[in-house]
Amino acid sequence: MAANKKILITGGAGFIGSHVVRLFVTKYPDYQIYNLDALTYAGNLENLKDIEEQDNYHFVKGDITDEAAMTELFQEIKPDSVLHLAAESHVDRSIKDPMAFIRTNVMGTVNLLNAAKELWKEDMDNHLFYHISTDEVYGSLDDGGYFLETTSYDPKSPYSASKASSDHFVRAYRNTYGLPVVISNCSNNYGPNHFPEKLIPLCINNIKHNKPLPIYGKGENVRDWLYVEDHARAIDTIFHQGKVGETYNIGGFNEWKNIDIVRLLCQVMDKKLDRAEGTSEKLITFVTDRAGHDLRYAIDAHKLMNELGWEPSLQFEEGIEKTVDWYLTNEDWLDNVTSGNYQKYYTGQYG
Ligand code: NAD
Ligand code: TYD
Repeated sequence: MAANKKILITGGAGFIGSHVVRLFVTKYPDYQIYNLDALTYAGNLENLKDIEEQDNYHFVKGDITDEAAMTELFQEIKPDSVLHLAAESHVDRSIKDPMAFIRTNVMGTVNLLNAAKELWKEDMDNHLFYHISTDEVYGSLDDGGYFLETTSYDPKSPYSASKASSDHFVRAYRNTYGLPVVISNCSNNYGPNHFPEKLIPLCINNIKHNKPLPIYGKGENVRDWLYVEDHARAIDTIFHQGKVGETYNIGGFNEWKNIDIVRLLCQVMDKKLDRAEGTSEKLITFVTDRAGHDLRYAIDAHKLMNELGWEPSLQFEEGIEKTVDWYLTNEDWLDNVTSGNYQKYYTGQYG
């Protein structure tokens, strides 16, 4: 696709971004990887401890909402390509503070688009602006059907509305200015380094500490889960083989009701923690539903699988086991991110 040598990855200290940075730094020693991250509550350089000394890895602290800083940074680094993951990513936070999502996800993305357009204006061909998005832009499904790349956007939360808006801007920059862009929309990710405000790591942390497991509504909502390293591999595939201007859905054909995931986590952790069978399930607590809670997400990833040959590598049960093992052996990581501000957030959200 592009001359992909100097790559700016935004949000590389976050959950998915850190796996993408690690994959690119280790798999492509000839590339120079710049990780641009504001280190918000969700950004954690501990996620990248194992690769931070690599010669081809560079960290830049910066905020994508800072227009002048982004222009200057692009002129200084002169990235060949951008992998854009930086975002506010939690639906519950978006319900409390939509503006933060508009600032980072919409305005921040447009700042990056402008900076890339300005830097690449003489030669758009040998570059790529890869925007990482979510399946949530498509809205909510009932029991049947899947999201296709052609499904109309119908975002229903402030988070998904902000991501949908950013996707529209990316496509508008392709259409209006000829910016070489590609977009992927992925289903829910899980795995190591996931911030414990999201369902799976929150429940792992709470089971460990014998705290209630808050299930919104009846736990009947369905999500389509993909192991984070499979998402990172899909991003690698699309970055190198995807067609400019195209959209690719990413997902594992792996739908689960929330209540079933939490029960699975309880079973796996009872075994690992030597607890009697059924002990952790007693922690399940049904709480007030999320406002405007999307019922079901399900991705059809056939385009990516058929055209670019990507496939998910793990069964969910196997991925969950790996994930639980990671959290149990990385207690310091979990303790560090659940101290301080996390406590304030948790009390505000769950009482
Ligand atoms: P995350 O919240 O774990 O990480 C986001 C990262 O972006 C953090 O390191 C944070 O410090 C950084 N960041 C936030 N605001 C910033 C700003 N203004 N300037 C610079 N950096 C900033 O998110 P994630 O779950 O890793 O998601 C990464 C991307 O993938 C997002 O764009 C998200 O919409 C998308 N996505 C996530 C999922 C999922 O299940 N987590 C699924 C599909 C798509
Ligand atoms: P989450 O991990 O926040 O991802 P998303 O909202 O982007 O899908 O939530 C996954 C599902 O779990 C979603 O249906 C909401 C539900 N959920 C709970 O039931 N309890 C919780 O405490 C959280 C955080 C989520």
